[in-house]
Amino acid sequence: MAMKIPFIHHKQPQEALQIPGDGTPEHVAIIMDGNGRWAQKRGMTRAAGHKEGMSTVVKIVRAAVQSKVNILTLYTFSTENWKRPKAEVETILRLPKQFMKTYLPELIANNVRIEVIGDMGKLPIYTREAVQYAMDRTRKNDGLQLNFALNYGSRHEILRAMKEMLGDLQNEKLSLDDLDEQHFSSYLDTGGLKDPDLLIRTGGEKRLSNFLLWQLAYTEFWFSDVLWPDFSEQEFLQALDEYRQRKRRYGGI
Ligand code: FPP
Repeated sequence: MAMKIPFIHHKQPQEALQIPGDGTPEHVAIIMDGNGRWAQKRGMTRAAGHKEGMSTVVKIVRAAVQSKVNILTLYTFSTENWKRPKAEVETILRLPKQFMKTYLPELIANNVRIEVIGDMGKLPIYTREAVQYAMDRTRKNDGLQLNFALNYGSRHEILRAMKEMLGDLQNEKLSLDDLDEQHFSSYLDTGGLKDPDLLIRTGGEKRLSNFLLWQLAYTEFWFSDVLWPDFSEQEFLQALDEYRQRKRRYGGI
């Protein structure tokens, strides 16, 4: 069901700040960590940290558009995040609606396509309607693909993929002989997308937290101690630059 979102303003597509050089990562994935600590350090509620984190999302999406990144995948709410206090869960899950209400016209003007990975069925109606509306409105756009990982957990995704695939084997839509890595990938929520070239994690921790475990097999990692609300365009561009210097060997020499 489409949600009515008032039209706010159309910003002009932004001029590219830099001409993309060869080697810009095509797919960047980000674990946006540190909202809670950012807020607590300032005597604010964790909810305020997540709201500030939303402003960083906007800045980084703009920088990704300008840098001609093709796909940006943001870890927004994990299958494990349900363990948090109810009020904090609700704050996070209400952000997509606020985000779309404010920024969808600008995203459309910038040719951004919005998609979701994760188990959308279990999300509250206000989250589902907001993202569904944004996905419908941007389906034909062919600029940056912006994936929000919502109620996403990699093991859960792999299990869901496996169940669907076993169903297809049983129904003889698929034969065991046809099953290879590429075919299995097509059952994942990211099916059809290139694996991330670069993973950024902010907030100082160095772990994957159940994010894209299959898809990150050969991805380059870039960690920052900066808490997500303080993460800047400059740092994002620095991560892209450092990625361009890296030599990827995919197990070869
Ligand atoms: C992790 O920080 C962050 C989250 C669980 C939520 C991420 C959500 C946003 C950045 C805003 C979403 C924006 C949109 C557009 C929907 P944490 O709370 O675990 O931080 P901590 O480690 O400091 O406690």
